[in-house]
Amino acid sequence: LEQDRPQSRQELALETRVLESEKEAAAVAAAELVRPGMRVGLGTGTTVAHLIPALARRGLKGVRYAASSPRTEQLAKAAGLPVFGLEEFNGQLDLTIDGADQVDRSGWLIKGGGGAHTREKILAAAAERFVVIVSANKIRDRLQPPVPLEVLPFAFPYVAAALGELQLRGGPPSPDGNLICDYLGPIGDTERLAERLAATPGVVEHGLFPPSLVSEVVVGIHNGVERHSGGKNG
Ligand code: 5RP
Repeated sequence: LEQDRPQSRQELALETRVLESEKEAAAVAAAELVRPGMRVGLGTGTTVAHLIPALARRGLKGVRYAASSPRTEQLAKAAGLPVFGLEEFNGQLDLTIDGADQVDRSGWLIKGGGGAHTREKILAAAAERFVVIVSANKIRDRLQPPVPLEVLPFAFPYVAAALGELQLRGGPPSPDGNLICDYLGPIGDTERLAERLAATPGVVEHGLFPPSLVSEVVVGIHNGVERHSGGKNG
């Protein structure tokens, strides 16, 4: 079958270029939503890495940023964007922009591929508008595992026993020093799984983001962007 054939190096390189240009298109479109004086939350990841230079190029006056990870903070500061802690904003932002690993047709997201989903969820919740920027391959009919979890190190043996199919990720800890794990069990009813994960003691945060948290999903496509409204207006 055509789809079972291994991709050649050239095909892989072309696919990467297409994905990067879709991420950039979504990021540039979202950067246009920022107005002078706004308080803006920044997510983490390769799509946000396109957003930061797009924001810097706009050269807007008085915009202040909150970063969801040390990596984003570094990138933003290197681009000349002023970054502050959430206390600067009394915990309230105008707009947060972030990537996602998967977006389903009803607007649920999986986030946490970069292990920063706890801080990302806080910045999404703190903002009047939360805009998600993705390449077209992130759109799915149904969400598929893994679902990233941030877990207290002390709680890991309990959380693993309670949830069953849990894998400890080999990479660095979360920005707050906790373990990043992947729940590999079936997703089934997304809302019920989100409730179950949130109700498991020791799970600091899970990577399922409900449609009610999302204002808009901007999807990069071959010749521009598509926009899908979410459940959060503001
Ligand atoms: C990090 C995230 C990222 O937004 C998500 O993993 C998507 O990353 P990328 O833009 O690199 O595809 O949730 O915790």
